[in-house]
Order: sequence, then structure tokens, then C-alpha cells
Amino acid sequence: MSTLAIIGGSGLTELDGLGRCTELRLETPYGQPSAALVRGTCAGREVVFLARHGRPHRIPPHQVNYRANLWALQQAGAEAVIAVNAVGGINSAMGTGHFCVPDQLIDYSWGRVQTFFEGELEQVTHIDFSAPYTADLRAQLVQALRAEGCSYSAGGVYGCTQGPRLETAAEIIRLERDGCDIVGMTGMPEAALARELGLPYACLALVVNPAAGKAAGPISLTDMEQAMRDGMGQARAVLARLLAVGQ
Ligand code: HPA
Repeated sequence: MSTLAIIGGSGLTELDGLGRCTELRLETPYGQPSAALVRGTCAGREVVFLARHGRPHRIPPHQVNYRANLWALQQAGAEAVIAVNAVGGINSAMGTGHFCVPDQLIDYSWGRVQTFFEGELEQVTHIDFSAPYTADLRAQLVQALRAEGCSYSAGGVYGCTQGPRLETAAEIIRLERDGCDIVGMTGMPEAALARELGLPYACLALVVNPAAGKAAGPISLTDMEQAMRDGMGQARAVLARLLAVGQ
């Protein structure tokens, strides 16, 4: 039975319903992960949960220690990772409350540590990243979303911005021109680091607002928070179903 890691984003700092929970406080060669890992079982499967922004939610996207997080999850026995991310919707088919399981990404973030392969190396190492998300894990997410009756897209392009501010309307026009369907701040370098560690990785993105300029007026942070509360309940159900099916 394989162990699945779940990285919870904004709105998902706890994973209810985990049985036999234990907390793991790990140190890694890259420093401390965002929070203690919570190991438990769900639907008969071993799960390791990590709150990406810490518990309580206190680490902004550009200051998350992505390397420590992924290293710690692998140390804790994770063999695959599902990342949950709140995003803005760019594609008009992806309104608030919609889920997207992206199959591609474009990275606009900067200044983040991007790799494990640096420092005193014996040789330079590259990874193939043509398909940044793992097809089989994506298919499991899509199956669970369908079974839960969620509104979802089985593919899409995730644009990762630096944050923590939201984008300008012009930046969103640029992202749209580039082919992005959704925009978030935490998709990278997480996906690339998972690939470097050989961990299968997929993203369950929940749209919590229309991206900048996609609705009249400014983005309401109150509405975003409400959409997160509503949608993350559904995300939990999707994850529970995926775990139950994937045994
Ligand atoms: N932009 C970037 N990140 C986000 C957004 C957004 O509009 N909504 C939620 N995370």
C-alpha cells in the first residue's frame, strides 16, 4: 500500500478524518518544513499531510521552503504527492468554485530556490519537465472529481506568479495570451522539486476568484475566503474518494 502525501494550500491547513494521527517534526538538509507533518490513515491508506503555508497559515508563497517540504515528505515515506492550490480563474470556463487538474505550467516566479541540484556537485543534473504533472495521478484526481459531481476541467495551464500581491489586469492579459487558464503563487518550484526527487506529482487547483480584470471591480478578499471555505470542503471529499478508490 503506497503512502500518499497531500500538500494543503490556503484554506486547507488541516485534513479532517485522518485516523491514527501522529505528528512528525523533521529537520532536513534544507531547513525545516512549513509545519509538522501529520501522518495518519484515510480510507485505509497511509497519508502524510503538510500545510504548505504552516499551521497557522503564516508563510507567504515566496517564502515557503519548498525544498524542505518535499524532502521531509519523502523522508516520511511519501511515494507520490497531491498538491492542493487555490487559484484565480483566467479562462472564462473556470469560474469560482471550479476545479482544474492542470497538465501544464508556466513559471513567472523569481528568486526562489529552484533545485536540489546545486552546490558541491559531482556532475550537473537536468530533469525532463516536458510534462510537469504525472498523468496517472491526474487521472485519479479527475476520476474522483467526476464521482463527486464537481465542476472541473481535466487539463489546463497553471501560471505561477511571485505574489504575495495579486496580479494587475495587464499581467493577466499577458498570462492569457501565453495560454494560462489559471493563476496561482505556489505551483513552482514545488512541481519541479518533486520531479527532481522522482516523486509523482499532481495538482488539484480550486478557483477562488476571477483573476484580475476578469470581473468588474477589484478582487474581493472576503469573497475569496468564502470561496475557499466552500470549495476546500469539496476538495477534502475529492481527496477522500481518491484515497478510497486508489487502495
Ligand atoms: N492570483 C494568484 N494567486 C491566486 C489568485 C490569483 O488571482 N487567487 C488565489 N491564488
